[in-house]
Formats: sequence, C-alpha cells, structure tokens
Amino acid sequence: MHGLATRFPADFTWGVATSAYQIEGAAREDGRGDSIWDEFCRRPGAIKDGSSGERACDHYHRFEDDVALIASLNVKAYRFSIAWPRVQPRGEGAWNEKGFDFYDRLVDRLLERGIEPHLTLYHWDLPQALQETGGWRSRDTVLRFVDYAAEVGRRLGARAASIATHNEPWVIATLGHETGVFAPGEQSRGNAMQVSHHLLVSHGLALQALRSQGCRARLGIVLNQAPIHPATDSATDRAKARLEDGLLIRWYMDPLLLGAYPEDVLAYLGDDAPKSREGDMELIGQPLDFLGINYYTRGVAAAGGDADGSRPDREVTDMGSEVFPGGLSELLTRLHDDYPLPPVYIMENGAAYNDQVIDGRVADRERIRYLGSHISALADARENGVDVRGYFVWSLLDNFEWADGYPKRFGIVFVDYGTQRRILKDSAVWYRTFCGIGAAAAA
Ligand code: FCB
Repeated sequence: MHGLATRFPADFTWGVATSAYQIEGAAREDGRGDSIWDEFCRRPGAIKDGSSGERACDHYHRFEDDVALIASLNVKAYRFSIAWPRVQPRGEGAWNEKGFDFYDRLVDRLLERGIEPHLTLYHWDLPQALQETGGWRSRDTVLRFVDYAAEVGRRLGARAASIATHNEPWVIATLGHETGVFAPGEQSRGNAMQVSHHLLVSHGLALQALRSQGCRARLGIVLNQAPIHPATDSATDRAKARLEDGLLIRWYMDPLLLGAYPEDVLAYLGDDAPKSREGDMELIGQPLDFLGINYYTRGVAAAGGDADGSRPDREVTDMGSEVFPGGLSELLTRLHDDYPLPPVYIMENGAAYNDQVIDGRVADRERIRYLGSHISALADARENGVDVRGYFVWSLLDNFEWADGYPKRFGIVFVDYGTQRRILKDSAVWYRTFCGIGAAAAA
C-alpha cells in the first residue's frame, strides 16, 4: 500500500463522494420542494425495492456526525451535491433560507475540519415544478438553472474548492429521457438529445454567470465515461463500439473541448439531433478549470446485442458490471491524446458488493481490491502524462442507489438503515490508512 501511495504527489486530493437525494432524507422538511426523483419513486415498479430517498441515510439530521466520520478517514476532500428543490422549492422564485442554512453549516463544518468542499449543482434532482413546465426539454429550465447556479455561487462560492455544474449529463439525458429507467422516466430519443444539448448550454451559461460574479471555486463538469471495446474484431462490432463511444464520450467531450458535436453521431441521429441556437457552441465551450470523470467499468459493444455472453468468466460487482481497472488508465490516456484537457479529477469510482456485518465487522475484501487496482491504474495514467489531481471514492456511505434502491451497497461505510448506525467497512479502514500515508507525506 505504501508503494501505491508514493506514486502520487503529496498535494494529490483524496476524497469521498455522495449526492443529495441519495443520502439526505428529510424530503418534506424545512420547506424542501418535491424533486423529479420523489415523483419517480412514487411510480409503481420504478424502484426495484419500492423505496425512495425520503429517509435515506438521514444525513440532513446527522451531518455533523457524518462530517466527523469523513474527517476520521484522513481524506482531504468531500464531494456532495446541493438539492436544488431544498434551496429553491419550485425551481424559480423565492430562495428557501432553511435549505441554504443546511449547506452553509455543512460547508463550515467541513472547513473547520480542514476538508475541502467540492460541490455539484445538479446531481439529478430537478424541482418537480420545473418538470411540469417541460423540464430539461424546455429552454426555460436552462435559464432557471443559471439563476440557481449564480445564487449558490454567491453564497458558497468563496468557501467551495470546486463547483461542478452537472453530474453525468449522459445519464440524465439517456437514462432519464430515452430508456426511461431513471427520473423523469421519459422515452424519446429526440427529447433525450435535446435535453443533452440544454444541459450543456446551461453548463456554459452557469460558468459565465459564476465567473462574472468573481466566484473563486474551480469550475467544471462531471462526465461518466468508459472505454468501449468491440466484443469481437468483426467490422460490425467495431462500428458499434465506435458509435457507442460517440454517444457516450465524444458527444460531450467534443462540444466542451473542440467546439462541435461529432459529425458521425449527428448523421446517425438524423432528425433526433438537437436543435441549437446560434452561439450555443461558444457557450458550451467555456474554459474549464477542471474536468470530472466518473469511472466504474468498461463497455463492450456487440452488433448482435449480447456483449456479455462472450465473457462468461469476467469478474463482476454486485451491479453485474465488470471489474476492469485497466479501462481507467486507457480512458484517461486516450482523452489526453484526443483533447486539450484541463486538470482531471476522478469524481467517482467504487463498487457495490453484497456486504454483511459479522460480529460488528464488514470484511469487504473485494472492494479493497477494486479500489486498490483502480488507484493503481490512475497512477499509470499519471505516469503516462495525464494531469490527474484528485480521486473520490463512491461512496462515503451506503445509500439510495436510484432505481436499484437500497440493496446495492456502494459505501466504504455500512449503513444500518433501521438504526442509522454507521459501521466502517474494512475498505474504509484501508482507505484511511492509505490517505494517512499521503497526509503524512504532505505534512
Ligand atoms: C453514478 C452516479 C452516482 C451513483 C453511482 C453508483 O452514475 O453518479 O450517483 O449512483 O453511479
């Protein structure tokens, strides 16, 4: 472990991550408005275990203890998101002071303990009132988001280390609006692509607004990415892999960093390509202070559809996704070759396993192996010249894993939802020791 730690500089940012809807609970308290996830969870069958984020980890009431828990892990940084409907219940109009109060105290407690706050403005919980006027399909939502971003910047921007506009726009657009497995549960490819465009425009306008008010936090966006490998070397599998790469990676990276959507993907989309306005590409391409990447696994593309059948021996997590650490260094090295990258932060990486508490202990050896092998792949990428400055484990706590509900446990800290007791898993102890080596070197 010591050898691994010494492959990173002393000022590397080690952290843990969460998001508002997945941990806060207190969904109806202190004036919080409904979000599209509250609404989605009420749909019969939408969430596998029929649950919701209504109580989750009760972090809203327990944040002081949770900050102490974070500090006990020796990490330098904590990534969390602001619940838009908590600070502006209807997504426009009055601000909810009690909601801002919560984030204010959270940020202060973190700073008192020497932990950098890394904020995400939008981790999927759109105010339901805005969904009812068209949600992200509507250009008006873009303007509402910019007002919200500016207000968060005004109140928290001087204390935050970084502010990311969106978390995983591909997920919001594609899983929320094309396949419909996530909120708001719509199923239209054309709408999904329009949503992706509005998310990108809102990102650019928000960056402009934050910069014009002198916001000191570093500004960026967080994308989910995976290298896509063809299942076989056949021309059709390779073409499928190239298209999936286009939809997942180039669709977002090209406009952000090269100024245009990829031509091959536009041609593929045909009438489903988004309508943009003059000047949109300049807005989207605002300079980034950082790029956040979430990495979990690779993708495998088969023209015939069954990509997994060809790899029966692959090692998988409890989500059924392949453990493939080499994909992280491959991905980062490729991004570095293809784009003029700003400093990169891995904003999420981690794995769900079917953890059990036995005699008060969770011996999650697979998770330790997962984290160690991915951190090692990250060191490889750095040694290949990629400017990666930070890494955040997903997640601090077991939490509400969206459409999968509570059975999928991603935490390095176990949550007993009945009592809300937190139990450090062995992986948390491992990460604490690992981060401690870095912290000692920095001192
Ligand atoms: C990512 C999400 C995060 C979490 C992990 C497992 O797509 O950003 O909220 O659910 O997956």
